[in-house]
Amino acid sequence: MPNIKYVGKNLFIEKLSVANIAKKGGTPFYIYSENQIKENYIKFVNTFKKIKPLVCFATKSNSNLSILRSLGKLGAGTDVVSIGELLKALKAGIKANKIVFSGVGKTEEELKIAINKKILLINCESESETKIINKIAKRSNKKVSIGFRLNPDIDAKTHKKISTGKANNKFGVSIKNFSVFFKEIKKLKNIKLEALSVHIGSQILTDVPYKRVLTVLSKLIKNLNLNLKYIDLGGGFGINYNKKDKPINLKKYSNLVHSFSKKLNCKIIFEPGRSIVGNAGILVSKIQYIKNGTNKKFIILNAGMNDFMRPALYDAHHDIIPIKKNSKKIKGIIEFVGPVCESTCKFGKYKNYQKIYENDFVAITNVGAYGTSLSSNYNTRPLIAEILVNKNKFKFIRKKQNLLKLISA
Ligand code: LLP
Repeated sequence: MPNIKYVGKNLFIEKLSVANIAKKGGTPFYIYSENQIKENYIKFVNTFKKIKPLVCFATKSNSNLSILRSLGKLGAGTDVVSIGELLKALKAGIKANKIVFSGVGKTEEELKIAINKKILLINCESESETKIINKIAKRSNKKVSIGFRLNPDIDAKTHKKISTGKANNKFGVSIKNFSVFFKEIKKLKNIKLEALSVHIGSQILTDVPYKRVLTVLSKLIKNLNLNLKYIDLGGGFGINYNKKDKPINLKKYSNLVHSFSKKLNCKIIFEPGRSIVGNAGILVSKIQYIKNGTNKKFIILNAGMNDFMRPALYDAHHDIIPIKKNSKKIKGIIEFVGPVCESTCKFGKYKNYQKIYENDFVAITNVGAYGTSLSSNYNTRPLIAEILVNKNKFKFIRKKQNLLKLISA
């Protein structure tokens, strides 16, 4: 997290001390470095600069309006998976012709809005969806451009709960079924197949499965003699949650994509989420209580699994770091847990952690992606605030949810 680091003993985000913000009250909160988000986006674009792809930020990874706005200003488009995300992207100033819409269960209502807004591509995930789009388009005498999401049956070598490109995953349509259905698509007069899309999973740390995808696509396009305007290669690029994680080599992959797109003469679309925002955010929490267990100490935070789901959902590892470092140690094992009434409301175990006390602050790291966007009101807990830092300034980009509103129904 280059923009979130210690200056002396104190954790800073850009030019601001996290402790100073935390002391003003209101923990837990998410806090992001705007610079980090911008740097990640620019680095991604530069890695693929020979290809000049359209980079559609995966809104589901972080759908805060200010973050979408900030990425939009840099030229990003968005990948959306619901009408809520679509309308948010438009509200953030992202042009409709830079928006792609994925998802296996788009409703007729959602499809109508997407068609009316003239977004770049609806990536269909089933035959039935394609037929509904054709029906809607026919009613208003339109010809709608679509992409078709394929399921290439490739193992992304990631956590099984975030793998999307294997035959047993619900996403896309198999190569075999698409090859048959493709002839039907040609008969549908109000749609035009302009793209193929794939997204095989998330937090992928090797380029091997991506290379396989290119091979499968090349073969299919050749076999069916497809003439496409776009190939949407999805997202999924992993980040380093653990020190031992090796970053994915995108430079090598970009060379492959370059020759692939040249051969096919089509524009490449990417849908990165995590790699743009993941390392740009931390969740700052207060230590509410410290309690001795039988064989470990429980460090009870005021942030719960409803605020940050990844450890409970995927056993995900996120380092928890003190806002102020010291050189003293706690003997034995500690476990950071939250207040939600579930045993899975826990965030990580440590041995020989530094001395910490009740009312100290800690930060759960690398939570910029799938942090707030996965949060919920479980245990009737209000959604927490989000703060964006730019150099030595910070602003609330989402206020803590109003408790009275929360208890109104
Ligand atoms: N495009 C599509 C169609 C997707 O379904 C996803 C993520 C992305 C792009 C962006 O993938 P990324 O670059 O962020 O890996 N909640 C899980 C991740 C679920 C990802 C779902 N799809 C987690 O916290 O790990």
